[in-house]
Amino acid sequence: MTRTFETVGVVGLGTMGAGIAEVFARAGMRVIGVEADEAALERGRGHLSTSTSRAVAKGRMTAEQQAALLGRITFTISREDLADADLVIEAIPEIMEYKRGLFSDLDRICKPSAVLATNTSSLSVTAIAATTSRPAQVVGMHFFNPAPVMRLVEVISTVVTEDGLAAEIADLARRLGKTPVTVGDRAGFVVNRLLLGYLNHACGLLESGLAGRDDIDAAVKLGLGLPMGPFTLLDLIGLDTSYEVCEVLFRESRDRRHAPAPVLREFVTAGLLGRKTGRGFYSYAAPTPAVHEPGPRAVVSMVGIVGSGPDVAGLVADLDAAGFKSTVAERSDLTPVADADVVVALSDRPVIELAVRLPHPERLVGLHLVGDRVAEVASTVLTSEDVAGAVQDLVTVLRRTPVRCGDRAELVVNALLYPYLNDAVRMLDSGYATAADIDDAMRLGCGYPAGPFEMLDAIGLERVRDGLRALYAEYREPSFAPAPLLDQLVTAGVPGFRAYAR
Ligand code: 3HC
Repeated sequence: MTRTFETVGVVGLGTMGAGIAEVFARAGMRVIGVEADEAALERGRGHLSTSTSRAVAKGRMTAEQQAALLGRITFTISREDLADADLVIEAIPEIMEYKRGLFSDLDRICKPSAVLATNTSSLSVTAIAATTSRPAQVVGMHFFNPAPVMRLVEVISTVVTEDGLAAEIADLARRLGKTPVTVGDRAGFVVNRLLLGYLNHACGLLESGLAGRDDIDAAVKLGLGLPMGPFTLLDLIGLDTSYEVCEVLFRESRDRRHAPAPVLREFVTAGLLGRKTGRGFYSYAAPTPAVHEPGPRAVVSMVGIVGSGPDVAGLVADLDAAGFKSTVAERSDLTPVADADVVVALSDRPVIELAVRLPHPERLVGLHLVGDRVAEVASTVLTSEDVAGAVQDLVTVLRRTPVRCGDRAELVVNALLYPYLNDAVRMLDSGYATAADIDDAMRLGCGYPAGPFEMLDAIGLERVRDGLRALYAEYREPSFAPAPLLDQLVTAGVPGFRAYAR
């Protein structure tokens, strides 16, 4: 039986629910929006009116189209009004007890042919389905924030989902202008499983003092070209949701990288949940520009550079163009840079062993050029403040954003990127999703410029494998060890995942 979906109920009109209601109404469907009480209903109406007014202001919609879209949505606080809906999507808080209560109500109220869907971020769709007398008609339909913008919908079917239903829901997602990726019921599905591991890891790096909030955000946004740094994104998703997703991931994976970082718990306990409450890692209520007191600066007339290869030649040329003299040394013989005012060692690995071989170890920092816009500046325990400050200034003169960090393997960008890529390889190897689906999901769900397998192929499998080995050696974190599939592909000389598509 092929169903028609013309009347759609959305329960919960918070940020996600209101966005989902907008997406359905935009596609011409009738929407019944349900909230728990009048105040919440008013807030939901407000989300819809703000979002559509923004589209009108940007010329993406006329005032008439906006009125027609909003006219297709009815607002109610009575679940009983969902009796005629062909499909109901739940977007209430991630608390299993609430979801179970809601689904048993929906099962009683909705017509027998109706499909019930959950927009849960990570909870078990199977467990939700089991609370109804129609588990075969319960699926996951997972949208991404902001729902009107992000193009992915994860369609989750369970072992009891009726044959063909996931395909019908995927068709419906296409009718909404979205791209569906259909997967089974595992904690976090594709996107949240990969994304939250990385976001939680960023919290861990912040807590370890490796680098600060703004440095990590800038490193990821400018260095990798992702639309947002991890802390900006955590604030968008909501720190409570992020915390909950990590908890659920940890319960299933027992991977301590999924155990929510203590800083998340602290924010959540304080009621600082991100954008929706006006404050999280950043403050949104009255943003104040950061004031940076310039620290002490070493006077630089000669820059020593340690390293070899094209990055060194490029750096020498850039410094020359900016009016600085430089001298170059190989790692094997540091004599040429012994008297330089500052020494930069081009490396993404710790440089302390180079520093201790110099007569002025306090003058050396690690420098890692990331893409065209970022340079990570790594201070060792011996680096003096005025040298670190002078190198930051140099990097700015070279039109790169400096990212200050500690002297650790793979510094910031690669330390965050490689374990995420490793997780994607493990997901592929487990047979949960194809490389193409995982790539699509991360590109369309998070606005990444490339999916993890596209990134792996672009960077080179061997480089990522070696980076993971270095991370493992540094942190002894079991899940940083290269995934066996990655290791085997490198050993077998397979050039990339495109050549290994399955
Ligand atoms: N509602 C409707 N439209 C919105 C919007 C919102 N809340 N926020 C932004 N937009 C629209 C803008 O109107 C604009 O449209 P236009 O190009 O037609 O004019 C477009 O999106 C771009 O917005 P801006 O120019 O204001 O801002 P940016 O270019 O910085 O883009 C962003 C904002 C789309 C949010 C982008 O930064 C991005 O893609 N970030 C990544 C978001 C992400 O990763 N989401 C997934 C989170 S995980 C998740 O949701 C799962 C859950 O289970 C946890």
